[in-house]
Amino acid sequence: MKILVTGASGFLGGALTQALLRDGEDVRVLARASSRLTHLEGLPVEIVTGTLADKESLRPAVAGVHTLYHCAGLSADWGAWDAFYQANVAGTRALLDVAEAAGVQRFLHVSTSDVYGYPPEACDETHPITDVGLPYNRSKGLGEQAVWDWHARTGLPVTVVRPASIYGPRSKDFVAEIAALLYRRQMVLLDGGRVHAGLLYIDNAVAAMRAAATSPRTVGQAYNLRDPIDITWRDYIAALAAGLQRPFPWIRLPGGVALALARGMETLHRRLRLPGRPLLTRHAVYIMIRSQGYAIDKAQRDFGLTAPVSFEEGMARTLAWLDTEEGRRMAPR
Ligand SMILES: NC(=O)c1ccc[n+]([C@@H]2O[C@H](COP(=O)([O-])OP(=O)(O)OC[C@H]3O[C@@H](n4cnc5c(N)ncnc54)[C@H](OP(=O)(O)O)[C@@H]3O)[C@@H](O)[C@H]2O)c1
Repeated sequence: MKILVTGASGFLGGALTQALLRDGEDVRVLARASSRLTHLEGLPVEIVTGTLADKESLRPAVAGVHTLYHCAGLSADWGAWDAFYQANVAGTRALLDVAEAAGVQRFLHVSTSDVYGYPPEACDETHPITDVGLPYNRSKGLGEQAVWDWHARTGLPVTVVRPASIYGPRSKDFVAEIAALLYRRQMVLLDGGRVHAGLLYIDNAVAAMRAAATSPRTVGQAYNLRDPIDITWRDYIAALAAGLQRPFPWIRLPGGVALALARGMETLHRRLRLPGRPLLTRHAVYIMIRSQGYAIDKAQRDFGLTAPVSFEEGMARTLAWLDTEEGRRMAPR
C-alpha cells in the first residue's frame, strides 16, 4: 500500500519517512525542488516534486496513495501572515481536494496543540480551536478546520494529531535554537521554567502517528500527543545545558514581563520592518509559560500511545546529534 509523506525534508516528516522505509513500506514523498533531502539519500523512496502552492503539482503525488501523512507546513513563531496562510491553510485545502479526488483511504493531518490558543490550563481534545491572533496558531487552526470540513462534506477518512513539543535530532525549535542560545549564554528562563514542557521524543511522535493512522477507531478523531512524562522546561533546559556542559540560564523573567516585552518587540519589528525576528515573540513566550501538559488519555485509550524512547534515552540521542556535523550546522557553537 502506497504511503505519501508531505514535509519529508523537515524534522517530523523526515523521521517518519525514515521509519516507514526501515519497515519496508512503499513510500513516496512530496518535496519542493528546493527541498533538502540528504537524510533520505540512498533510501528506496519515490520522490515527487511539487508544492502545496500548486494544486496541479500535487495530483501525481497522491495518485494511487492509500495513506497520506500531511507533515508539511510552516512551523515558526514569526513571519508574514500570507506565508502562514499559503502553507498551512491554502496548501492543506489543495491537498485535501486532490487526496479526496484520488480516493486516499486515510488522511493523517499533523495539527498542533497550539490550536487551543495557549489556555491557562492544559486541556483535552474537547477544548475548541481558539484563534488568539498569532499567525501560527491562527493558520494551523484554519488548516485543521479545513480537514474537518472536508471530512464532513466528502467523508474523506481523516485523523488529526495535535503534538505538543517535539524534540530530538534535527529539531530546530526545541533543540537547535535552545542549544544555540545556551552556547551564547542568551537563553532566558521564563517563570522559573516551572510549567510542563509537553515533550514528545521524535521517534515516539512517529510511532504515535503510525498507530493513529492505522487504527480503525481513529477516523474522524483528534488526538493530543506528548510523552506520558512530567518534565518541566526547567528540567529540560537543565538536562540540555548539563549535556552540553554549559551553565544553566542566568537570565530570568516573570512571564507577564516577557509577554509585554514580546508584544513591544513585535510591534517595533513590524513598524520598522526589521529583518529577522524579534528576540522574544508572544508565541515562544506562551509555549514557555503555559502548561504544555495536554491530556493524552484519548490517544492512550484509542491507539495505545506510549513512549518507547524514555526521556533519558531521548536526551542522550539528542545530545549525540548536536555533536554531529548536521547538529553543529543547525546549532552553531
Ligand atoms: N516540531 C514540533 O515541535 C511540532 C509540534 C507540533 C506540530 N508540529 C507540526 O508538524 C509539522 C512538521 O513540523 P516540523 O517541525 O517537521 O517542521 P519543519 O522541520 O520546518 O518542516 C516543514 C516541512 O514542510 C515543508 N513545506 C513547507 N511549506 C511547503 C510547501 N508550500 N509545499 C511543500 N512543502 C512545504 C518543508 O519543505 P522545505 O524543506 O521545502 O521547506 C518541510 O519539509 C508542521 O505542520 C507543524 O505545524 C510540529
